[in-house]
Amino acid sequence: MNKQVKGGLKPGDARSVGPSVQQIIDRDGDNPPAWFRENSYEFLGDGDLTVDRYISQEYHDLEMERMWSRVWQMACREEEIPEVGDNVVYDIGDWSFIIVRDGADSIKAFKNACLHRGTQLRAEDGSVNQFRCPFHGWTWNLDGSLKEIPCKWDFPHVDEEKFSLPQVKVGRWGGFVFINMDKDAMPFEEWLGVLPRHFSTFPLERRYMTANVRRIMPCNWKVAQEAFIESYHVVEAHAQAMPVTGDANTQYDLFGDRISRLYTQPGVTSPHMAPLSEQDIANIMMQSPRLKKPGETDALAPGETARSRYVGALRRDLEERFGADLSSLTTTEILDNIEYFLFPNFFPWFNFSLPLVYRFRPNGNDPDSSIMDVMLLHPVPDEGPRPDPAPLKILRPDQSFTEAPELDQISAIFEQDVSNMPRVQKGMKMLEKGVTLGNYQESRLRHMHRLLDRYVATPPGEPLRP
Ligand code: FES
Repeated sequence: MNKQVKGGLKPGDARSVGPSVQQIIDRDGDNPPAWFRENSYEFLGDGDLTVDRYISQEYHDLEMERMWSRVWQMACREEEIPEVGDNVVYDIGDWSFIIVRDGADSIKAFKNACLHRGTQLRAEDGSVNQFRCPFHGWTWNLDGSLKEIPCKWDFPHVDEEKFSLPQVKVGRWGGFVFINMDKDAMPFEEWLGVLPRHFSTFPLERRYMTANVRRIMPCNWKVAQEAFIESYHVVEAHAQAMPVTGDANTQYDLFGDRISRLYTQPGVTSPHMAPLSEQDIANIMMQSPRLKKPGETDALAPGETARSRYVGALRRDLEERFGADLSSLTTTEILDNIEYFLFPNFFPWFNFSLPLVYRFRPNGNDPDSSIMDVMLLHPVPDEGPRPDPAPLKILRPDQSFTEAPELDQISAIFEQDVSNMPRVQKGMKMLEKGVTLGNYQESRLRHMHRLLDRYVATPPGEPLRP
């Protein structure tokens, strides 16, 4: 039987005051594709999450054995390995993989271990024409076939046909390369669910990395990613955004088991404060000189909204800067902050002005440490050669995101998020109860943990438990 609360609402039915995302799209007056109109939420329960999942070695070990070994996970961008022989080393927990372009349109992923005595074949990203072990010189071709064993006379028991480098599965979407260690993995196209359709007007393969920044985070990988999965924290952590950000009236969507979406709109005042006038909002949003049209007054015309003024300016600015034609895109497609999540750790944003991608993973086998990757993906110009991607910048744990200027204005906001993470990780160890979540604003956390729990409960070799 459904629980009832005051006012007759069932748990999960309550929403913030203020206009909804869909009402604001109505007000925009244009007609975005159907998936921007979807509103896909279900109440998943309101019990506390156990804290052990964030802090215990035992839980981490189960995650590695039962989840990370079985899921599709983003390993690199294709643009990082543009030429045959280019390769990236992708590490997760104790495991290491070589992602290599072994042909013009062929990418493979090998376990990063020499079949002689186990030496890692690649210690870092780079380009090679073969994989030669630095210990005794066993050598493999780029396609993984065995090429040479020094002193072959001493290894008559080695069947060369059986000594190819072991491969794991590779999937490619949007210019990203995913791997999966599970030979019985769900087909990659099925794993992607709604993403290809929802990103059809924002093709990620036609973008290139203008920032590629990595930082070790002093917290569990889930603590780190959950700082970016809801807008509930905006009022406290990013109060500067409230005059022009609909934070508490963000829409949260759950698509199947693996995918969720956050839909936050600029150009409206936070429900936490008294509404500003459209003119006041426009004045704040139009401060950048880049957005001003010569001769245009600041005053909104009758019927004009802050969002309509801003989207016009942003459309012009983006078209000028990136040589793109955005004339067919609607207001919400250009303006809004729409962050997708693909289980277990991949966050591509549908966001023209701040085209972010996040990835989070454990740092080795330490449940108190994680690796955060942040990318910015800007459009490849319609004419001329494809620009080179930004090189990977690795920040030390004591460095700030503000030391990566390629992240532009977002780095200061990241610092506001990151400052809480070590306090969360330490504080959790004092919690005598579990983690208590909001029914709606934190539904994406619960959704992610619901699937994680299923993996962790399923021993290797068994079908995923319901
Ligand atoms: Fe690789 Fe010996 S360990 S050649």
